[in-house]
Amino acid sequence: MHTRLSALSILLLSTCLQTAVLSAQPAAAPHLEKKGAAIQLIVDDKPFLILGGELHNSSSSSLEYMKPLWPKLAAMGLNTIITPLSWELIEPKEGSYDFTLVDGLLAQARPLHERIVFLWLASWKNGMSSYAPVWVKQDTRRFPRIVEHGTEVEILSPMSAATQEADARAYAALMQHLKEVDGQEHTVLMMQVENEVGVLGDSRDHSAAANRAFASPVPPELTASLKAHRDTLYPDLRALWDENGDKAAGSWAGVFGDTSRADEVFMAWHYARFIQAVTARGKAAYNLPMYVNTWLAGDDSQPGDYPSGCPEPRVVDVWKAAGQAIDFYAPDLYAPNFVEWSRRYHRDGNPLFMPEARGGAVGAANVFYALGEEAGFGFSPFAIEDDTDPKADLPASYSVLASLAPMIAELQSAGAIHGFVLDKSRPAAEFVMNGYTVHVSLDEIFGEHADSGYGLIMATGPNEFTGAGKGFRVTFAPRSPAGPQVGIAAVDEGTFEDGKWVPGRRLNGDENDQGKNWRFDRPQVKVEKVTLYRFE
Ligand code: DGJ
Repeated sequence: MHTRLSALSILLLSTCLQTAVLSAQPAAAPHLEKKGAAIQLIVDDKPFLILGGELHNSSSSSLEYMKPLWPKLAAMGLNTIITPLSWELIEPKEGSYDFTLVDGLLAQARPLHERIVFLWLASWKNGMSSYAPVWVKQDTRRFPRIVEHGTEVEILSPMSAATQEADARAYAALMQHLKEVDGQEHTVLMMQVENEVGVLGDSRDHSAAANRAFASPVPPELTASLKAHRDTLYPDLRALWDENGDKAAGSWAGVFGDTSRADEVFMAWHYARFIQAVTARGKAAYNLPMYVNTWLAGDDSQPGDYPSGCPEPRVVDVWKAAGQAIDFYAPDLYAPNFVEWSRRYHRDGNPLFMPEARGGAVGAANVFYALGEEAGFGFSPFAIEDDTDPKADLPASYSVLASLAPMIAELQSAGAIHGFVLDKSRPAAEFVMNGYTVHVSLDEIFGEHADSGYGLIMATGPNEFTGAGKGFRVTFAPRSPAGPQVGIAAVDEGTFEDGKWVPGRRLNGDENDQGKNWRFDRPQVKVEKVTLYRFE
């Protein structure tokens, strides 16, 4: 008996010790994880939805300037600020680093429980090189520039090993510092490497080094990767390769044709090689998720009108062929066809996060689509400090989405959530969910028609859906017309407090069109739950 007891107490003691050790273990650094149907950002062991905003380019270059802004940003319901850190301020003199700004921004963010995504503005920002330190800018022999139409321009050439090394060294120093000062707290969630890179003003670099590389064979790694991923290549790239004979070898113009499209692929490869290498060096110091953002091309624009080589959807496969360090590619999505661009980026293992987008009422709507329909893990309108009215549309959307965040993340991975943005040009949407065909359309009642609406719908139980948004209504049809019919048992409005549903009014009158529709009227973003019943 005595021996058995001591064996048992030893077992209990060791279990307690193990639990204590496990709970004392620091959470892993923020990282991306594939969970079911979604790739999620995991922060402190839980999925994290970035309800963010990007600051103007220069705001975070001054801690004094930032001081009064933080409480306003927090009051808007932002959980994350996306903001630049520039190479010139981090390494003003070669080899001597200054992290005052980094430490100051972390110290300002933490008391307000704000997180940060830093933008590494280094060799390129909007195609240009304005944020490189002056010791880089002025040494044009060591850090050569791009040549356009016979003239050197103030854009660093991605063909230069010296520039790549200098940028990578500074970035690695920054990541090492972040690991030291934030490796436990995880205020910094992700890093954007450079900003909207690519050649502006010409379709490619025409420096002597670039001309030599352009006349040389396409690297076999690139053609091998195109071949290996042939079935999933972005359709435009596949068409370009097919039209030119699917060649496994040849010069750039031979493999991709003698047009500016070949120039764009060439530049994509060289920017990608450079930035994959910089990213890999940063990750070796501190492995946070790292992405590259894109200035999106217009429908009729040519490479060079937009930065040529930027990870546009049609060259993302080239970027992927050039290395594995970059975790994903992100659109700066200001274009009106938000849905189409979101789909172009949410494909082939690339999760959707947009570091820049339109804010205000447009952003307040689009965030529902991004998170609800495209399993997005974050949203971030640009120039967010211009939009600090806590009563405006975006804060209203963010506040509801924040209350639903754990459920959204769970249902994104279960594939049981849909989101939509409706207007006169796209007045309805339809999904199959939970055994029903769910039809969503612009709201109308007693002859009044909403001209816009947005929201998301989640299948939260058998015959139960939870929705959020405004300006739409929903009907349900059984998937099999032969079976029993479906009716609305009840609609309840409510809120989620600490993840628990707190019901408000029962809405079975005009609010649900006397049982005919599940309605979300125009005035404000609401959360409602509907239960359905079946009858013969
Ligand atoms: C896109 C850039 O990435 C941002 O840094 C900013 O300059 C905006 N454009 C301005 O609209």
